[in-house]
Amino acid sequence: MSKKPFEALLIGAGNRGAEVYGEWIHAHPDQLKITAIAEPIESRRKAAAERHVVPPQHQFANWEEALSRGKIADAAIICTLDQQHIAPALKALECGYDVLLEKPMAARLADCVALVQAAEKHGRLLQIAHVLRYTDFFQRVYQIVQSGTLGQIVTVSHRENVSAWHMAHSYVRGNWRRADQASPMILAKSCHDLDILYWILGNQAKTLTSVGGLKHFRPENAPAGAPQRCLDGCPAAESCPFYAPAIYMELEPIYEGLANAHNTGIRLVGKLMQRSPAIVRAAAKAIPTLRQITEFRGWPRSVITDNPTDLASLYEALQNGPYGRCVYHCDNDVVDHQIVIMEMENGISVSFTMHGHSFEEGRTIRIDGSRATLLGKFGFNHTFIEICEQRGGKCERIDMPNNVEQGGHGGGDKGLMTQFVKALAGEQNAVLTNARASLESHLMAFAAEEARLKGTVIHMSDFRDNAEKITATQPAA
Ligand SMILES: NC(=O)c1ccc[n+]([C@@H]2O[C@H](COP(=O)([O-])OP(=O)(O)OC[C@H]3O[C@@H](n4cnc5c(N)ncnc54)[C@H](O)[C@@H]3O)[C@@H](O)[C@H]2O)c1
Repeated sequence: MSKKPFEALLIGAGNRGAEVYGEWIHAHPDQLKITAIAEPIESRRKAAAERHVVPPQHQFANWEEALSRGKIADAAIICTLDQQHIAPALKALECGYDVLLEKPMAARLADCVALVQAAEKHGRLLQIAHVLRYTDFFQRVYQIVQSGTLGQIVTVSHRENVSAWHMAHSYVRGNWRRADQASPMILAKSCHDLDILYWILGNQAKTLTSVGGLKHFRPENAPAGAPQRCLDGCPAAESCPFYAPAIYMELEPIYEGLANAHNTGIRLVGKLMQRSPAIVRAAAKAIPTLRQITEFRGWPRSVITDNPTDLASLYEALQNGPYGRCVYHCDNDVVDHQIVIMEMENGISVSFTMHGHSFEEGRTIRIDGSRATLLGKFGFNHTFIEICEQRGGKCERIDMPNNVEQGGHGGGDKGLMTQFVKALAGEQNAVLTNARASLESHLMAFAAEEARLKGTVIHMSDFRDNAEKITATQPAA
């Protein structure tokens, strides 16, 4: 590890850039420093510049300006929205930056391939933020599969259960609600899961097909008399799981998550916030860490207003902004459920279900081998792995801290950053997925979308070859 911290140019100081990676960097000043920022929204740019003490000459209104200066830091961390990944990432690689790029790599398959080719051509690190690989949970699943404990793996059934309110926030009301403005949901949300399956099984998909669609978040499913906005006197306010004031102002899902946490202290605070918030507010005067809960300013509140603790600002955002819309009266078109069926090259059959109608957020996985079955839950409230042997029926359960206790993405956000810094320092294999390995999950996602839309079975070797050919003929978006 270098004695001097590495320097980074942050491109996009929104939720991921400023709140997740920015905060990790702020907490690890001996490892990485943000020394330049590109962000068009002035309030975000100024706040991030102040937090990281970035000099005025290194504060830029957009990535174009920042990258026109050539290489002014060791690394570029690119956290713009999906369709704004390709151009800054290509330019940053060309300038000689090592790059941490948010997932998905790009919104078009040809652009994902172009990025891999550019990283290889310029000999730079291009790490895609596949945070799940860095979690204790999936590391453990990977080790168990690799150890042979389960015998020969035969089938895998993996689910990404997106909680109903998260679905409503991101994929019905929010930034990822339309494929033409962001990317298909199987890419945006589940390139992580497809990456995990590819990694854990150590194998590429041979054939793949998919079904799914947008079933529920449509006007015909609106409760009788539901207005365009939740605040306009909705008759279903008391019972609708998507009632915006309950999500953003009352923070019902956040406290629900805390109230079910594995950790006793967190659970107690969550239950008190549900039943007697005044007690927690009084205690917060003496215990500053409790203010993170009583004055909650994080995601998803931070997405809807710059003043997340101010109830008037939240109310105004719900009155006028996209997040106050009735979920049945939005302009969303991405799916709310999709199932992908794959046969891997080594004959393992895999099914993957992604859906946005879960009572809780989390992934579940079942891997059946010739010797034992692995059952895993990677959730906000509970995270555990159980291994049950065929002969004798003995079950071993490994309880792990849940996602609330581990922090963003069950510890994946901090794990990703730790390994990114190690990779900058030249540590071989610090990054668990190079750009070409990340490309595989993106190929699977694009293939799944094509299979869903056309009702076909995709032969992945043809699909891969074709992707390289298309890239040669299509200019980067
Ligand atoms: N790894 C994960 O698990 C994970 C989780 C959530 C989101 N994401 C991805 O992270 C990315 C960012 O998501 P977010 O929620 O932080 O979005 P965001 O909207 O909060 O932040 C994006 C920022 O980019 C800025 N921007 C726009 N144009 C720019 C330009 N020309 N130059 C510089 N900055 C510009 C915007 O003003 C905004 O502040 C998305 O691609 C998303 O899919 C990844």
